[in-house]
Amino acid sequence: MASITLVKIAVLLVLITTTVDSSEARSMRMKEKKTKMVFYMQDWETGKNVTAVPVAGKNGTLSSILNFATVMVVDDAITEGQDRQSKQIGRAQGIYVNSALDASDLHLLFSIVFTNKKYNGSTIEIQGADRFFLKQREVSVVSGTGYFRFAQGFAVLETVYLDLANLNAVIKFNIGADTDLETEMVFYMQDWESGKNITAVPVSGRNGTLSSVLNFATVMVVDDAITEGQDRQSKQIGRAQGIYVNSALDASDLHLLFSIVFTNEKYNGSTIEIQGADRFFLKQREVSVVSGTGYFRFAKGFAVLETVYLDLTNLNAVIRFNITVHHY
Ligand SMILES: *[C@@H]1O[C@H](CO)[C@@H](O)[C@H](O)[C@H]1NC(C)=O
Ligand SMILES: *[C@@H]1O[C@H](CO)[C@@H](O)[C@H](O)[C@H]1NC(C)=O
Ligand SMILES: *[C@@H]1O[C@H](CO)[C@@H](O)[C@H](O)[C@H]1NC(C)=O
Ligand SMILES: *[C@@H]1O[C@H](CO)[C@@H](O)[C@H](O)[C@H]1NC(C)=O
Ligand SMILES: *[C@@H]1O[C@H](CO)[C@@H](O)[C@H](O)[C@H]1NC(C)=O
Ligand SMILES: *[C@@H]1O[C@H](CO)[C@@H](O)[C@H](O)[C@H]1NC(C)=O
Ligand SMILES: *[C@@H]1O[C@H](CO)[C@@H](O)[C@H](O)[C@H]1NC(C)=O
Repeated sequence: MASITLVKIAVLLVLITTTVDSSEARSMRMKEKKTKMVFYMQDWETGKNVTAVPVAGKNGTLSSILNFATVMVVDDAITEGQDRQSKQIGRAQGIYVNSALDASDLHLLFSIVFTNKKYNGSTIEIQGADRFFLKQREVSVVSGTGYFRFAQGFAVLETVYLDLANLNAVIKFNIGADTDLETEMVFYMQDWESGKNITAVPVSGRNGTLSSVLNFATVMVVDDAITEGQDRQSKQIGRAQGIYVNSALDASDLHLLFSIVFTNEKYNGSTIEIQGADRFFLKQREVSVVSGTGYFRFAKGFAVLETVYLDLTNLNAVIRFNITVHHY
């Protein structure tokens, strides 16, 4: 029975093994943490190039924004300067609603959709109570996309131009937002059970230290090299230290529980914690990045694993990790 299972696994593994050029590009990418910016929202309800229109309210489309219950749809220009003709860097698209019985509050719900070179296509999401009679008021930056993924922050609003008769206004936005750092990286785990420089050993199981990792209940302790490339001799950037356990009755799953301890210059001493079900018969499988230390404090993310080299007879393997983590 055990040997049938083993053969099945062997066939599967051979089928899924792919050869990948060791010079394959690897990437380590990172996003910025803090963003501060100032821009102006050109909110024009009358005159040429109207960009804010009432669509519903107690008087229907004739409702005034200065009355409770009026809903406006906007596509206001976002400009670098207060002047309407100054450089446009995006649009404010969404709605705002007069949502105070005494008409003193506009509830804002729109995206700032950037069109400038730096943030082109990225957005930040604005939500909050714009008590516009105050000189300064604060609304939330609740999220974002692209460059601003996972953004959290606030915008201080100030009306810098107001023509109340014609309902035209220019609002200054002073934004402070933190975007989580996002790091993406690719590296290889050199898992060698036999030959020179063994880095993975069975320590217990149904046959004691002679147990095979291809059998249920075998516990392995590892100190595998983490390399930049697939080649075992390529630059080492860390070690995978911890354990993994064959934890499926049909032997198809390795439960991983180890740290990636970085030794390269950039992340030296920092770690990320790997945990999860490595259903190694799959071409690609995903395990969790559950935490980290140093550079990767509070990390959360995932790693997509792929077996890029496998010598089943000798139980040697090279696994590629494509990792995406968010951290502070
Ligand atoms: C992992 O990274 C490599 C190298 O950048 C890339 O070729 C491969 O498509 C990636 N795999 C996944 C699942 O993202
Ligand atoms: C209105 O839009 C036109 C075309 O984009 C532009 O030439 C003109 O300067 C705009 N007028 C104002 C007052 O912004
Ligand atoms: C509705 O329109 C009438 C007539 O223009 C106006 O007197 C009234 O104030 C408006 N009420 C609201 C809630 O907009
Ligand atoms: C922004 O992206 C759009 C669509 O991808 C493109 O057409 C436009 O030229 C870009 N603008 C800038 C300033 O990069
Ligand atoms: C084994 O380790 C030694 C000393 O670190 C090294 O010189 C040798 O290249 C390694 N052999 C393999 C196959 O990695
Ligand atoms: C235990 O070892 C024996 C003899 O090598 C082998 O036939 C059997 O498959 C092993 N069982 C396990 C669970 O490792
Ligand atoms: C990493 O840190 C250790 C201990 O602090 C130090 O000995 C080593 O030189 C550092 N390595 C790199 C590549 O910075």
